[in-house]
Amino acid sequence: MDNTPAFDMVLFGSTGDLVMRKLLPSLYQAHAAGLLNENGRILCLGRKQISLDEYLELVETNSRQHVKAKSEESWKEFLTRVDYLKVDAGTGSDYPALAEWVGPDTQKSVVCYLSLAPELFTVCCEHLAAVGLNRDNVRVVLEKPLGTDLESSNAINEAVAKHFKEEQLYRIDHYLGKESVQNLMAIRFGNALFEPLWRREWVHDVQITIAEDLGVEGRGDFYDGTGALRDMIQNHLLQLLCIVAMEPPANMSADAVRDEKLKVLKALRPFTSNEDVASNTVRGQYKSGAVNGKPVKAYREEKNVPADSQTETFVAIKAEIENWRWAGVPFYLRTGKHLQERLAEIVINFRDVPYQLFPSPVGSNTANRLVISLQPDESIRMHFLAKEPGDTMRLQPAFLNLDFNQAFSVRRADAYERLLLDVIRGQLALFMRRDELIEAWRWVTPIMEAWKHSTVPPKLYTSGTWGPAASSALLSRDGVSWHEES
Ligand code: BG6
Repeated sequence: MDNTPAFDMVLFGSTGDLVMRKLLPSLYQAHAAGLLNENGRILCLGRKQISLDEYLELVETNSRQHVKAKSEESWKEFLTRVDYLKVDAGTGSDYPALAEWVGPDTQKSVVCYLSLAPELFTVCCEHLAAVGLNRDNVRVVLEKPLGTDLESSNAINEAVAKHFKEEQLYRIDHYLGKESVQNLMAIRFGNALFEPLWRREWVHDVQITIAEDLGVEGRGDFYDGTGALRDMIQNHLLQLLCIVAMEPPANMSADAVRDEKLKVLKALRPFTSNEDVASNTVRGQYKSGAVNGKPVKAYREEKNVPADSQTETFVAIKAEIENWRWAGVPFYLRTGKHLQERLAEIVINFRDVPYQLFPSPVGSNTANRLVISLQPDESIRMHFLAKEPGDTMRLQPAFLNLDFNQAFSVRRADAYERLLLDVIRGQLALFMRRDELIEAWRWVTPIMEAWKHSTVPPKLYTSGTWGPAASSALLSRDGVSWHEES
C-alpha cells in the first residue's frame, strides 16, 4: 500500500476505551508498517487539563498492552507524532485552540474522529464549523451508535449535514474493514465460478453468525439501553448481509458499491405485525454458565444492569430479500454474547443434487456448503462429497480449504487500521452512507417496537451454549439447522 498523504488525526474522547484499545494501536501498526506520511500528526483531545507527558503515561498503561509492538524504538518514534490538548467536545470556547493547532493548511487531510457519546455529535460538529474546521479537507468519522432509533439517527444526520457535506462524513462500521469481508467481494466479483450459483435457483439458505464468547465486559450501563439488535444486527450483520446479497456494482467507486447495498436494504421484507416479528425472530438473554471453562454470571447480575432487565443479549432473525435474485431464500442472522465460542462466519448452503445416485453418507447434509469464516481465523471452506478411497462407492464429506494465513504471508491490517487509512486517503467505499443507515433503522424498527410491547420476556439461555433452543427451532421448522448443529 502507498504512504498516506500528510494528515492531522484529531481523536475526540481520547482517554476512552476505543482510542486506547483500538485507534492508537491501529495507528501504531500503520506507522510501524511505514504507511503513515512523515507529516502525519495525531492530536488526542480530552476534558482533563493534563500535560502531554501525563497523557502518554495513560497511553503506556492503557494502550500499549493492545499493541503488537514491533520494537521499543518504533513505538517511541510513533509517540513523537502524538500531542494532547484539553478540549471538551461540548464547550465551544475550547475549539479555537484546536483550530490553531491544526493551522490554516487546506491541502493536508484533517480527520476528526468522534469517539464520543452520540448526544455530543451535533454540538461537536457545530463547534468545529464555528472555527472553520468544516472546510473541504476536513473529514469527520462518526462512531456507532448513531442514534438509538430511526428518529434520533435522522436528527443526528440532519444536524451534522448542516455543517458537513455527505462526502466529508465517514460512518464507521468496523466489520466492513475486516479483510475477509472485502475478500467476499473479491470472491464474488473476481471469479466467474460463483456468480451463476449465487442466486435463488442454487442457494437454499444463507446463515450469518457473529458469536461472542465475551459478555458485556463492564459496559452494562451502555449495553442495557442498547441490546444486541441495535448493537450488532442494525449495523454489522446487515452490512454483511448486503455484501453477500448485493448485485455486482457498476464499478468499485464508493457510490456504486453503496448504491447496490442500499438496494438490498430496501428489498428486505419488512415485518408487518407483532405476530410476524414473534414468529421470525428470537431474543435471548444469558444466564450464568461457563464459557471457555470459566464460570460466568448472568446478564442481570452484571454491574449497572437492573435485576429485571429485559434487554436482549442474543438475537436470531429469519430475514428475506424480496427481489429476483433472492426471493424465497431465507437469510438467518444470529448474534449473541457469552456464546460457546467467538466466531463470525457466513454460510451459504447450496441446494441438494436433484437426484441422489449414491446412498446418503453420514454428514451429507453438510455438503454443498460454502463457509466464509471472518474470525477467529480467516478462511473459505467448500464442503462437498467425495468418494472414499476403496473398492466400494461410498461418499464422504470432504473440504477444499483456503486459509488466508497460509495462502498469503504478508501482514494483514486489522479492521480499524484499514479504515483509518481509508479516511486519511479519502476513500469512502467501506463507510455507510446516510441513506443506508436510514434503511437499516427502518427495517429494525418494527422489531424494536414489537419487543418493547411484548409481554413475552427474552428467552434465557445458559452462558457457553449457542443461545436459546428457540433459535434452533426457528430454522428447524424450515428443515434447516445452524451450521455447527448439522
Ligand atoms: C461492537 C459492539 O460494535 O462490536 C460490541 O459494540 C462487540 O458489543 C464488537 O463486542 C464485536 O466486534 P469484533 O470485531 O470483536 O467481533
